[in-house]
Amino acid sequence: MTGKFTAPLSEKEIILGYKSPKDTIILATETSCDETACAVVKNGREVLANVVATQIKTHRQFGGVVPEVAAREHLDAINLVIDEALNQSGLSFSQIDAIAATQGPGLVGALLVGFNAAKALSLAYDKPFLAVNHLKGHVCANYIDTDLKPPFVALLVSGGHTQIIKVESYENQEIVGETIDDAVGEAYDKVARLMGLEYPGGPNLDKLAQKGDKYRFKFTEAKVGEFDFSFSGLKTAVLRLIQSLEKEGELPKEDIAASFQEAVTKVLLKKTLAVAQKYSIKTVVLAGGVAANSEIRRKFFELKEQGYEVYAPQMRFCTDNASMIASAAYFLSDVSSDIDSEVFSRK
Ligand code: KG4
Ligand code: ZN
Repeated sequence: MTGKFTAPLSEKEIILGYKSPKDTIILATETSCDETACAVVKNGREVLANVVATQIKTHRQFGGVVPEVAAREHLDAINLVIDEALNQSGLSFSQIDAIAATQGPGLVGALLVGFNAAKALSLAYDKPFLAVNHLKGHVCANYIDTDLKPPFVALLVSGGHTQIIKVESYENQEIVGETIDDAVGEAYDKVARLMGLEYPGGPNLDKLAQKGDKYRFKFTEAKVGEFDFSFSGLKTAVLRLIQSLEKEGELPKEDIAASFQEAVTKVLLKKTLAVAQKYSIKTVVLAGGVAANSEIRRKFFELKEQGYEVYAPQMRFCTDNASMIASAAYFLSDVSSDIDSEVFSRK
């Protein structure tokens, strides 16, 4: 958000964002999936409060997120989480300049809770309301506590999306490549489930892989567009491998996890690097829940030896949180400030 915004009741015009000479403090909510989150962030980079109430324990018994259950838990938690964030920040609503919320993509019932809570605060305190794209939020998590500036190439790897994005300026982002089927996080979760690991599968598979031999099983790379990905064939290949090994005796779970992880991280690195080379960009950035993965971080940080600057969010800002939404609200110019805007599930 950069430019003039209007307070919803008084219709007073306020200049906010990174082009404003004054500090901008944004309170944001994020409820797109199974975390109820609220944060207060100053000038897009300084986190004054970051509160996340996770629903992992609830959804574990179902082996995945149940949308209706998620929405109900958000309803129970949202007011407490907002109060706690404001308390942590040491500020009052009069010191907050704008209220932001995740607009989508995500689970509609879940999104509605945080989105409408933020709208209510915007109206009650007469502060501009800002609707933020969740995926852009993940990328902006890299601005927190850093001096990162565009241009850079971002690899966004989350539970629902896998994209390579060319970020030319704070305002201009272009998707250069993406998955044609499963997202990386989804592939991790599905493979983890095949191996009988608990939800959320991604972090559990990551832990298991650290004990395995990553060269034991070879998986072929999917043939797709130059900068695109496909992970559904890999998932099926792991399933077939498990089925054939099961007949032979005990499953070498660690080696399967490590070999799967090697196949995924290798192709992510190769294609991100190819985009960086094509556009002569020397800064590479990781984003999304899977950016917490130990092997992806290790492989990408090795790029420093080739002269690249490499960024990845701190672990607590990789998975869903509201600080990244407040940061995106500060830096992006295409956030909607329409109090009548609606949530969306895909994009
Ligand atoms: O970004 P995120 O919190 O939610 C979405 O926007 O989708 O990402 C969640 C995804 C899940 O699929 C989860 O299994 C995966 O990120 N994930 C990981 C790790 N930590 C979280 N995948 C692999 N290794 C990890 N360490
Ligand atoms: Zn996310």
